[in-house]
Amino acid sequence: MSAYILAIESSCDETSVSIIKNGTEEISTVVLSQMDTHANFGGVVPEIASRMHIENITMVIEEALAKANMTMEEVTAIAVTYGPGLIGSLLVGLMAAKTLAFIHNKPLIPVHHIAGHIYANNLVKPLEFPLIALVVSGGHTELVYMKEDYSFEKLGGTLDDAVGEAYDKVARVIGVPYPGGPLVDKLAHQGKDTYKLPLPLDDDSFNFSFSGIKSAVINIVHNEKQKGNQIIPENMATSFQNRAVEILTKKTMNALKKYNVKNLIVAGGVAANSGLRQSLEAKSKENYINLIIQPIKYCTDNAAMIGAAGYYAYKLGRLADLTLNAKASDKLH
Ligand code: KG4
Ligand code: ZN
Repeated sequence: MSAYILAIESSCDETSVSIIKNGTEEISTVVLSQMDTHANFGGVVPEIASRMHIENITMVIEEALAKANMTMEEVTAIAVTYGPGLIGSLLVGLMAAKTLAFIHNKPLIPVHHIAGHIYANNLVKPLEFPLIALVVSGGHTELVYMKEDYSFEKLGGTLDDAVGEAYDKVARVIGVPYPGGPLVDKLAHQGKDTYKLPLPLDDDSFNFSFSGIKSAVINIVHNEKQKGNQIIPENMATSFQNRAVEILTKKTMNALKKYNVKNLIVAGGVAANSGLRQSLEAKSKENYINLIIQPIKYCTDNAAMIGAAGYYAYKLGRLADLTLNAKASDKLH
């Protein structure tokens, strides 16, 4: 029998609801982005984000059902992002999910946001194990080893800033408006690699560190300002992107070698980065790695990925009761 998962994602500044069939087929998705509102403040304002989720969540749920031409009775179970994320934002999606589960007597499936980013892959092609996932977003930079469904072994992660966060901060200091990542990516193609930036945490571990390179960018900008000079934003974008892409590619390839894994998936907002995509494609080809990078619509936050992950959690009996709480941070498990 087919399973239809109604999934809710509200961990940051997107209110999103999807209906996913059997973990692989997207029946409907609605994503309501608050980006334009937060752009006025140069970043996500948590208080505003949760208020906007409250205003929109009911409408987004109704729209996703209407687009799918389905009623709640036809939904098998409810999946929801319980964490990690902004606590106020998470609570809105969670309360909506718990209310629906209670009223309609449906199973409730808790989904870790990063599991969602990884399982978004199933909407493109079923995961093949063992695999290594590079998860790169505004909140995460992680290399994860999976030998089977829902088995997550973290090989390493960022010790400070996430790569997307570093992109957004670099964007701000070089005068690029929020959200900076995509615009820095665009600029990087127009500039030259002229600024001497360090290759961050270039060691044998699978950890990352992006605060040093971010500070290096800030220092150069300030020093030039003091001398009465302007930096060349596109050259800084190129220099920063080259270094970020180089270290992400290098450590990912090292992990694949060490664990003798041939399947690589890349997930999260920064997987939309064109420099990273090109670099991983080239290196994967060279090393006979089966690489899947998700289409851009699945890279940034959406509920389809939560529905895909939720289906596998459901199959494994990983359910929650109505005491489920939101968690601002939580280990991927
Ligand atoms: O996965 P996501 O939508 O939200 C989180 O879970 O964090 O990722 C958002 C992050 C932001 O930092 C954004 O600047 C970055 O992904 N991003 C990019 C690109 N597109 C989005 N960073 C670099 N290049 C891009 N093309
Ligand atoms: Zn995300």
